[in-house]
Amino acid sequence: MPQEPDSNGRKEPVIRLEDVWKIYVMGDVEVPALQGLNLDIFPGEFVAIMGPSGSGKSTAMNMVGCLDVPTRGRILLAGQDISKLTESDLAQIRGKRIGFIFQTFNLMPGLTALENVMLPMTFQGVHKDLREKKAKELLDSVDLGQRLNHKPTELSGGQQQRVAIARSLSNDPEVILADEPTGNLDQKTGREVMQMLSDFHCKAGKTIIMVTHDANVAKFAERIVNIKDGKITSIDDNPGHEACKRELQAEHDESNDHKKTKKSKEK
Ligand SMILES: Nc1ncnc2c1ncn2[C@@H]1O[C@H](COP(=O)(O)OP(=O)(O)OP(=O)(O)O)[C@@H](O)[C@H]1O
Ligand SMILES: [Mg+2]
Repeated sequence: MPQEPDSNGRKEPVIRLEDVWKIYVMGDVEVPALQGLNLDIFPGEFVAIMGPSGSGKSTAMNMVGCLDVPTRGRILLAGQDISKLTESDLAQIRGKRIGFIFQTFNLMPGLTALENVMLPMTFQGVHKDLREKKAKELLDSVDLGQRLNHKPTELSGGQQQRVAIARSLSNDPEVILADEPTGNLDQKTGREVMQMLSDFHCKAGKTIIMVTHDANVAKFAERIVNIKDGKITSIDDNPGHEACKRELQAEHDESNDHKKTKKSKEK
């Protein structure tokens, strides 16, 4: 993908929505969930999408993630019009480039944590040994190395979300989409999840697009897209994100120091 900066110093968008409409038809009733969205997401950005319930955030996210087709308008993924791709090509590109984290975790109930994380790699044809090795490493990185063989019902909500995060990273995607990633978590676990997302952005350079109701969660993003009634009402830069991330990092370091001290005392 060409990523030369344009005249404004910005790279080519990794995802572009051009006048995207989504109209659901329910019998005689038409529900205009999205009404002409224009949005560019640039490589390495951290963007939050905010808006009231029913405003079209998840529908917009499904478009950004190429999970659904617009009623009207165009979606470009790395400059490619996705309507020109076959369903299987699109699934392949999406599986490689985009990782999804959902509010309700969406883990496969019959599979263990390890198998859930291995699954997206299966669709990309990764060899079994490599899948298993990578899935173990990812689960280890979200502190679940001791829960590999647990099924989702045998894990807490925060643990399930961490499995979902590990799964979203399994194909090393450049873009991570997170729809209310902290919506079902308590505040402390929510902050841990934000710490992970913030690390993917700052340290691994991933592009993150996150839907949230919560201004306390959105404040970590560099840009905030506000949606109301299926329309973008504003896109605001968020200069405070650096300070919020530093605060989160300090909290994280302190908690790690605490864990280390506790461990050494136990020895
Ligand atoms: N599959 C569907 N069929 C018909 N209408 C739908 C469908 N999905 C969503 N809608 C409608 O589209 C609108 C936008 O829904 P969407 O799920 O995008 O909202 P949201 O902003 O994510 O809300 P929430 O914050 O509650 O998750 C709503 O009015 C909803 O009822
Ligand atoms: Mg939603």
